Amino acid sequence: MLKVENLRAGYGAINVLWDVSLNFPLGELTAIIGPNGAGKSTLLKAVMGLVPTTQGSVSLDGYPLTDRATWDMASLGLALIPEGRMVFRDMTVEENLTMGAFPKPHRAALGRNLERVFGLFPKLRERRRQLAGSLSGGEAQMLAMGRGLMSEPRVLLIDEPSLGLAPVIVREIFDILRGLKQQGVTIVLVEQNTRMALGLADGVYLMRAGRVILAERAAAVDIDRLHDLYFAREGAAGDVADAVFK
Ligand SMILES: Nc1ncnc2c1ncn2[C@@H]1O[C@H](COP(=O)(O)OP(=O)(O)OP(=O)(O)O)[C@@H](O)[C@H]1O
Ligand SMILES: [Mg+2]
Repeated sequence: MLKVENLRAGYGAINVLWDVSLNFPLGELTAIIGPNGAGKSTLLKAVMGLVPTTQGSVSLDGYPLTDRATWDMASLGLALIPEGRMVFRDMTVEENLTMGAFPKPHRAALGRNLERVFGLFPKLRERRRQLAGSLSGGEAQMLAMGRGLMSEPRVLLIDEPSLGLAPVIVREIFDILRGLKQQGVTIVLVEQNTRMALGLADGVYLMRAGRVILAERAAAVDIDRLHDLYFAREGAAGDVADAVFK
């Protein structure tokens, strides 16, 4: 279990996450949805140690991650695929992927992982010598995902992979996530596309204004209520969910 307990985090004087608690059971895909500015990306960054926390803890199988260095996360089995598909534009596709294998223990497995990623994304193989800056948006997202997978993560955190992409590419990306889940990878997916996220997720959290306001099994979600809470419509205040998945 990846466990976030009572986490408070932000940027200097600006606090963003207010005592959030979320559980991410191993082997499951958990979706985090919520409007812009809810703190979803901040949460993923805080898990990876990219944003300082002022209270609470993050642990993986009982092992504390808070205060571990970000560069340690890959060897602990975590990888973040950040929003905005940041790739090194002046490097080739293959060079970008190789960067994802940087943590020492994974260098030996470089060739095997390259093959695995090219197997998942055949377009990246075709374009392996092309500069990343010349890729289409969908290809760049695939490259960002491929790079995240080069360290063979057990736990993959992925931030809005579908943003701005054509529906056919979005389906391709969701198919890849489904495949990874079937292989046993634990996935935390931040996604604005609620319906698609629910179609794939085991559990779902809704965040608003730095708090978790709903925690539910995806199959049990009432989508109308979810949207009421999402948009904070009148009369839908609900009780703030302290619930986490056991
Ligand atoms: N580097 C930063 N410095 C200061 N404030 C920041 C920084 N990054 C994010 N914030 C603020 O933190 C809050 C939460 O941002 P965050 O990016 O986590 O939201 P989000 O839920 O991921 O939104 P979106 O759906 O738009 O990606 C916002 O109010 C944002 O302005
Ligand atoms: Mg975000």
